[in-house]
Amino acid sequence: MTPRLGVCYYPEHWPETQWAKDARRMAGLGLTYVRIGEFAWSRLEPKDGVFDWGWLDRAIDILGQAGLQIMMGTPTATPPRWMLSKYPDMLAYDANGQPRKFGSRRHYCFSHEGYKSECARIADKLGERYGENPYIHSWQIDNEYGCHDTILSYGPAAIEAFQRWLKDKYKSIDDLNAAWGNVFWSMEYSEFDEIDLPNLTVTEPNPAHVMDFRRFSSDQVVAFNRVQVEALRQHTSTPLIHNYMGRITEFDHFAVGEDLEIASWDSYPLGFLEDRSDQNEDFKHTFQRQGDPDFAAFHHDLYRGVGNGRWGVMEQQPGPVNWAPYNPAPLPGMVRLWTWEAFAHGAEFVNYFRWKQAPFAQEQMHAALLRPDGQEAQSWSEIEQTAEEILQIDWSQKSANSRVAIVFDYASAWAWDIQPQGQDFDYFRLVFDIYKALRLQGLSVDILPPTIFDFEGRDLVIIPGLFAWNKNLRKAVNSFTGKCLIGPRSGSKTGDFQIPLQLPPAIEGMDIQVTAAESLRPSEKIPLESGGHLHIWREFTQTKETVSLRTKDQHPALISKDNLHYLCGWPDDDGMDSVLKELGYDNEILPEGLRCREIGHYQLITNYNLSPVSYKGSKIAAASVKLFNAANNEIVLG
Ligand code: GAL
Repeated sequence: MTPRLGVCYYPEHWPETQWAKDARRMAGLGLTYVRIGEFAWSRLEPKDGVFDWGWLDRAIDILGQAGLQIMMGTPTATPPRWMLSKYPDMLAYDANGQPRKFGSRRHYCFSHEGYKSECARIADKLGERYGENPYIHSWQIDNEYGCHDTILSYGPAAIEAFQRWLKDKYKSIDDLNAAWGNVFWSMEYSEFDEIDLPNLTVTEPNPAHVMDFRRFSSDQVVAFNRVQVEALRQHTSTPLIHNYMGRITEFDHFAVGEDLEIASWDSYPLGFLEDRSDQNEDFKHTFQRQGDPDFAAFHHDLYRGVGNGRWGVMEQQPGPVNWAPYNPAPLPGMVRLWTWEAFAHGAEFVNYFRWKQAPFAQEQMHAALLRPDGQEAQSWSEIEQTAEEILQIDWSQKSANSRVAIVFDYASAWAWDIQPQGQDFDYFRLVFDIYKALRLQGLSVDILPPTIFDFEGRDLVIIPGLFAWNKNLRKAVNSFTGKCLIGPRSGSKTGDFQIPLQLPPAIEGMDIQVTAAESLRPSEKIPLESGGHLHIWREFTQTKETVSLRTKDQHPALISKDNLHYLCGWPDDDGMDSVLKELGYDNEILPEGLRCREIGHYQLITNYNLSPVSYKGSKIAAASVKLFNAANNEIVLG
């Protein structure tokens, strides 16, 4: 399937007289998709039960008749003001117990049953009206779950729902007390309704209590999403989508993804570099106008996994955003590069955010394809070029599956957030460091859910920082004949958040015990004999298996038995290289800022650098791409 481009559009922001011209210009630019509707509740239903469909009917007709396919949003990320009068207790509460007020967006608690039923109702109404509309390609449910720190809520609706969830899970309060270890500090409960949310405690709450709260909060997102899935499914068989975000780990995206046909995410490479990157100031300076060469790629691979192969970019940054600490303009060429990179990871679509820069409200400083005066903005010509280029490529052999995979487990992100045991231990960072090391060797990577029970077709699978084993994953490891790299910290807890008494990592068939672990301050690095260091985290072990890498102070760093390998710490870049070398991955390291990705018989090279780089005998310009036919190295594009 040829991938296509699209744009996010808000007809309700513009006079109706402009819509037809906008639609013509979109189609003229080579766009296929237009996403609309996701924040329009106050215009769809200005008063409780009073609907105004006319404008949306006309917008859909105009866009559809211009040849565009519509991705229709449900507006549940922006409950209108009357909703709050109806349900004054629907707001989410922050960890200080303060309600998060009306006046922006995402002001709801996932556990509020009244609001949830309103969401089912509006999804049902939309589905009823447009479910069979031929212009509608797909539906986006809500918008960016978790954006603006909105998964955890500490209000009355959440308390009640949490107590119910616990009762359902444990049945008996004694079992809960035992699982949590509540004998410690006299924290035992007699009734489920005595259990509060784990905020505002004097010192840290019981990690098992918090872990269950995190699981519960994630389940609430799944349930919230599901009521809209069920409502829409009665009226339409077109694909259902959610647009996820970058580096948001507060809910299990794989679980939400199971209810949807397509995953998508919102890619803001420059905003994310400023806002949510662990890189140092030099790196940020170098890549300020290009973004981190691995950040978008990582999420492309993650969401391909979440979508079970079907995914796209719902929002792509086309110029400066408005929400990061600094908001530079992309280097000319980057919008095209980001788009091509998504397609090389298997995206079905890339939609730009947004069509026209809004002269009013919160995002007036956010770039769009058009300036507020309607003239073409910076990215226009790059998008025009990309739209033509994608039509010239034969996409029929596109397969984005890779031989190398990493298991990504949201529960592990919660666990190490709850108990980092050293302020630099961050699960996303650990996985991302490993991902980067693989990419630097030119490898394409898949990201797998922890519930997978089979690694068939893989040569190497890495399971870093896994909080607790589950049956499926054990089965996958046990039956796997490729190389499996496990750790650090994997299997270091039971599902109840206790240390397994046989001691971690509890890998079947490997005789290893982690007898102690330490976290390291940034200035402390433990040298490896083979080059590089452990930093942030290291473990001391007892083992009867082969020690294949050691620290200079003579502790095991990598322990191996047949195809299984256990990593006893967090390697820095050079250390990770030693580990990969030991596993037989010794490819030449790519030049800084250059990355490649295989798709079918193509290989895409992206140059994130400020200057040209030579690769495979050809020069790749700064902020540019080249697409090779992998079989004969012929240049197909670039
Ligand atoms: C996204 C969001 C959009 C818009 C955009 C600005 O997170 O989905 O509605 O706010 O950011 O960059």
